[in-house]
Amino acid sequence: MEKTLSIVKPDGVKKNLIGEVIKRFEQQGLRVAALKMIHLTEEGAKGFYIVHRQRPFYESLTRFMSEGPIVVMMVEGEKAISIVREIMGATNPKDAAPGTIRADFAADIEHNIVHGSDSQESAEFEISYFFSSLEIH
Ligand code: CMP
Repeated sequence: MEKTLSIVKPDGVKKNLIGEVIKRFEQQGLRVAALKMIHLTEEGAKGFYIVHRQRPFYESLTRFMSEGPIVVMMVEGEKAISIVREIMGATNPKDAAPGTIRADFAADIEHNIVHGSDSQESAEFEISYFFSSLEIH
């Protein structure tokens, strides 16, 4: 059983896609084990995306991620990390396969609706960034 962290980003929440994202995960046999809606501060977003601190898009990404509420969830299932990434599609919607969330709904590489952990190591960091053990069911 694998665990991963997914986020419906501010653009996804604004576009009313919370249910759509969860539905796609559940339809592929994944289980939502923890979930909440929060509004990150810029500092909170910077901490979450700390691995990208040297990237040119860090400031803009963390501003975007703190501009409105997000829905964070821990999702689990067999191969959850790669299945969530398949359901999301490539980071840049221009490269995302048809039928993926980003191909269907994302505006551009930054405003790409959803996030999903890219490895077991980042999943562990990201899950513990948002959830205490008491919030995971
Ligand atoms: P995410 O999967 O959340 O991981 C890091 C995020 O940074 C990514 O989705 C995009 O929202 C954003 N991102 C990645 N590459 C770029 C880029 N070249 N320009 C702007 N934003 C980017």
